[in-house]
Amino acid sequence: MKQALLNAGCIKKFEAALKFELGHFYLYSMLANKMQMLGYFGAYDYFLAERAEEIGHYQKHIDFLNDEGILPKLPTLVPETDSATSLKEAIQMAYDNELDLLKYYREMYNEEEEEYAEVGQHLLFFLETQRVAVGFYGDVLATMDSEKNNPNINMIIDTKLKKLA
Ligand SMILES: [Fe+2]
Repeated sequence: MKQALLNAGCIKKFEAALKFELGHFYLYSMLANKMQMLGYFGAYDYFLAERAEEIGHYQKHIDFLNDEGILPKLPTLVPETDSATSLKEAIQMAYDNELDLLKYYREMYNEEEEEYAEVGQHLLFFLETQRVAVGFYGDVLATMDSEKNNPNINMIIDTKLKKLA
């Protein structure tokens, strides 16, 4: 039997992080489905690609915890309660959720890196990933805001997302 190298409090934080990452997988699945239904096929492709990345993030935590001798409890995901009704709302939901997770990893890093340097090192990847995601969705929202009187703005954004998918 492997020896657990992190304390119970730290394991709980990882379990919450797993819930966030799997929750994002779920969120992007929902947004992709919704965008397909609304006819934004670039956003559909983009959110599907994001969805795949979230599973990668989840697995990165699992692999790290395995090295630390820990088999975490898997989270129960809550059923979908709201759904985006426009491209703008979808981007806003993505932004809000990624920002929440950036704040969560900042806090976790501050609380754990002194006792467990390797946890801090592991979290740097996640802090960087969250910074890039928040920055990206923030840029898209800024463009949509500046161009709110442009009747083609949604299709411009959709085309941009398709290229990045
Ligand atoms: Fe993620």
